[in-house]
This record gives sequence, C-alpha cells and structure tokens, in this order.
Amino acid sequence: MSEVFEFTAENLAQAKDFIGRYPEGRQRSAVMPLLDLAQRQNGGWLPESAVARIAEMLDMAPIRVLEVVTFYSMYKQSPVGKHQINVCTTTPCWLRGSDEVVGACRNALGIGIGETTADGVFTLGEVECLGACVNAPVVQVDDDYYEDVDERSMAHIIDALKRGDRPAAGSQTGRAASAPEGGPLTLTGETAKPAGKKAVKNVDPVEIDKAEATDAEATDAEATDAEAPDAVAPDLETGETEAAEPEVVETEGVPGEDDEAAGDEPRTKKE
Ligand code: FES
Repeated sequence: MSEVFEFTAENLAQAKDFIGRYPEGRQRSAVMPLLDLAQRQNGGWLPESAVARIAEMLDMAPIRVLEVVTFYSMYKQSPVGKHQINVCTTTPCWLRGSDEVVGACRNALGIGIGETTADGVFTLGEVECLGACVNAPVVQVDDDYYEDVDERSMAHIIDALKRGDRPAAGSQTGRAASAPEGGPLTLTGETAKPAGKKAVKNVDPVEIDKAEATDAEATDAEATDAEAPDAVAPDLETGETEAAEPEVVETEGVPGEDDEAAGDEPRTKKE
C-alpha cells in the first residue's frame, strides 16, 4: 500500500461538512464527494491509501469504496496529466463524428487512449455518454464540456491548452445551449393557429379564449340553420307569409284511382 493519505486541514473540514449533510447512520452516502475531494487534493488520481482513509472515515469496508472508484470513469487509480481530455464515443457522439475527434487528439498529442504525454500535461481518455448527446460530439476537458466538436475545433482547443489558455467551453459552433443549429424554431413569439386561421402574435390568452368562444357560437348557429326547415319568405307588401305547399307523396298504381274511389284527399307526407 502507498503512503498514508490524509486530507489537508481545509479539505478535512470540507469532508466533515459533506458527511454532516446526511442523516445519522447514512454517512456512507458521502463517499462520492469525499473521493472527489481526495482526488483533487492528490493531483487527479486516487491512491489506495486515499481509498482506505475514506473507508475508515465512513465506517465502510475498503472494497465497498473501491467498487465505487472502479465503477465511475471520473475516478482515476493511476497518475494522470494536468489536463484530462475525455472524448465521448457512445453511439450519438460516434454517429456525429467522435472517431474523427479522437483522431484529432491522437494527432495533436501524439498519444493513444489511456496514455499521458511525456511532459505529463495531457491524458487522453475515452468515456461513455456524458449526458449531453443533443450537442454531440462532446469532449470533457477537466471540469468543462466542449460540445459540437469536430476535428478542427478539437485541434484548436488542444493548441490553446498547450499555450496555457482555456478556450471557451460549450458549443463550438456557436449555437445557444441545445437550440437547433441556425437558431430557435419554436417559442419564437409566433403562435401558430390551426389550419385556415391567421397566425397571431403575442396575443393575450384571454383574448384568444374570447375569439374561440365567438367562433364556436357562430358554428352552432350555422348548424342550427342547416337543421331548420326551409324558411318561408314573407310577402314584402303585406308582410304575410304563405304556408308552403305540402309535398305530395307518390303512390304505386294508378295515381288517385283508389283515393277517388274512397273519396279521400291525396295523402301528404307527415312532418
Ligand atoms: S453519447 Fe456522447 S454525450 Fe451522450
């Protein structure tokens, strides 16, 4: 086992603060922030002694702490470079060109995946989904995410880091957050109306409700007109209306023959 690991006074106070955030008996929940704290103190990786110290502080078996360390790619068990470049190569990033991004890193650094440059400045890694697939391909450099990366922008980022600069993180194509390339297409202030109606711009929702209620009333009135019997137009001079001629129902046989014999009037269609 390597030398005994101890937190600095400042980090020990921070570690105790992390532990105190969990209820009595649940202190082991602080294992991840403590590992992160120890790793940052130790130059980016976790010696076995740090794992043992954290296990002791949290009353855990060292193997339980080691299980956490080996599960997450953010924890390193061997020395790493000053800058860690982790390229996501999971499917969405791969489909968007992560192979080319890895190639750009290899060319610029002269190392392969899992290796560190001779000067100890860069370590190149390959990681699973970084949770920012909508801006794929994504590369994590230390604590920053670089998104919408391609060969050219990756080479530019590495050149800047070599000069001691820190290029702006986020989208490398300039898009805002995860908005579509070329700008937002929704929530732009235009409210689309159903087909056949004009688009309205920034209208008070109450006014929209009123307009729709009026439309609905008009539609009901049209439906009522369609169901009503033909209206009888009044005489324009007298103002009287004339009853509509009853519709004669045609019967089989000789028209009126039976009716005449029976002395009946022709039958009319019942309303
Ligand atoms: S697949 Fe690369 S960020 Fe999700």
